[in-house]
Amino acid sequence: MDVAAWLRGLGLQQYEQAFRDNAIDAEVLPELTDADLEKLGMLLGHRKRFRKAVVGLAPSSSHPDPSTDDIAAQSRTRELSAERRQLTVMFVDLVGSTALASRLDPEDLREIIGAYHRCVADTVAHFGGFVAKYMGDGVLVYFGYPQAHENAAEQAVRAGLALVDAVRQLQEPEPLRVRIGVGTGQVVVGDLITAGEGQERGVVGETPNLAARLQALAEPDAVVIGPQTRQLVGGLFEYRDLGAVEVKGFPEPIHPYQVVRESAVESRFEALHGATPTPLVGREEEVDLLQRHWHRAKSGEGRVVLLSGEPGIGKSRLTVTLQERIQNEPHTRLRYFCSPHHQDSALHPTIAQLERAAGLERDDPPETKLEKLAGLLAPASPEDGALLAELLSLPTEGRFPPLQLTPQRQKEKTFDALLRQLEDLARKGPVLMLFEDVHWIDPSSRELLGDRAGAAPASVASPHVPPRVSTAVDRAGTRHGSCPQSARPS
Ligand SMILES: Nc1ncnc2c1ncn2[C@@H]1O[C@H](COP(=O)(O)OP(=O)(O)O)[C@@H](O)[C@H]1O
Ligand SMILES: [Mg+2]
Repeated sequence: MDVAAWLRGLGLQQYEQAFRDNAIDAEVLPELTDADLEKLGMLLGHRKRFRKAVVGLAPSSSHPDPSTDDIAAQSRTRELSAERRQLTVMFVDLVGSTALASRLDPEDLREIIGAYHRCVADTVAHFGGFVAKYMGDGVLVYFGYPQAHENAAEQAVRAGLALVDAVRQLQEPEPLRVRIGVGTGQVVVGDLITAGEGQERGVVGETPNLAARLQALAEPDAVVIGPQTRQLVGGLFEYRDLGAVEVKGFPEPIHPYQVVRESAVESRFEALHGATPTPLVGREEEVDLLQRHWHRAKSGEGRVVLLSGEPGIGKSRLTVTLQERIQNEPHTRLRYFCSPHHQDSALHPTIAQLERAAGLERDDPPETKLEKLAGLLAPASPEDGALLAELLSLPTEGRFPPLQLTPQRQKEKTFDALLRQLEDLARKGPVLMLFEDVHWIDPSSRELLGDRAGAAPASVASPHVPPRVSTAVDRAGTRHGSCPQSARPS
């Protein structure tokens, strides 16, 4: 086949020379990846045209008679879809399975392994993981596959922590425990085998190997992650540094970390980017606009600003800048972080905000927590105290009057109590409320935010209204619509 003529037929004659200079003949044509084409100087639209055409070409060029070799042709086409990209890979292994095997009869062992496999599959599926392969009692799982996902590394780590618990809680005759390794790296992903369900989805590269090696370093019930994963998940978790370790098959020592638990970090943005991000580039207009609204809010006209745009466009960064610009002005800052992991947890952003503001520590006994909360809320009425203590799941006995309310009534009263708290703060000075990642908001918080947001701009008219509240809202992923009440979890 004449490559130059084929290119001309596609209207891509301008690349003839580049193809010739790089010795690309008909045989390697189907193997060119998107990155290769880019290196050859091909524009995005042309790369797409090229790839469409080359798929049509594949069966006849590699397999002269497609009708007799259908499977091979299909697999050839699938191979073409192989792509190089970042993937997070988890390797899970059962602790002491050899000992189990020697103790149990094969039938019982089969059942236990079956229950364990189901537990792994269910747990990782909940975090968007894809079981690629069972290898005896080992399981290989991909995150960010088949669709790449910006939170894949974080999801893998969360899945690992959840899996340790889930396996430990399995009601089997023998207690089970796992070791988990998680690695992130560049891989070539594709269906390298043939068509059909249940096939291993091939991943080429050292990452699966890394995950298996990290797993071997883990203690029972531990999740060990590689340096790239660690970098991606930033301050979202607490870690134990395992130091530099020589690992078979890797020329340089690697630096693994054991994940201890989720960290109590306030802001995902700070957890992932550090507290002092790189200097702001541009965006002066947007920052000015935010500051103008802030000034209006300070003079008693509550304002709501919705920041809406694609993930990564800089919404959180803008709110950080606003906070920096006004840090020397007296005001109260309230931050609410919605998260993909708490979409089903009613009022989670408010609960977390109250816990932070009251300074509750994970290990505080309940009475201490209650004491701290009461200190934060003063001078709230005893009923408001009881409502908010219950919101934080703190036992109120002996400190606050018992509440005897229907769930609906309790919710209404809790909302009222929260609004009263806000009004108290707003009477003392301006309040900046930031809601991050509203596309992940839980339904109750959405209702509450609607109340607050609805109240703020109408501050002159409504008696209920906090007079000096400015709310900035961060919402990713959708470009249409402009009202927080319409934000849908995505
Ligand atoms: N104008 C900017 N100047 C400098 N860095 C920016 C700017 N906008 C965004 N960034 C950086 O880009 C990354 C993503 O921004 P982020 O605010 O988290 O996006 P979003 O909240 O819209 O998802 C962050 O590291 C952030 O610091
Ligand atoms: Mg953001």
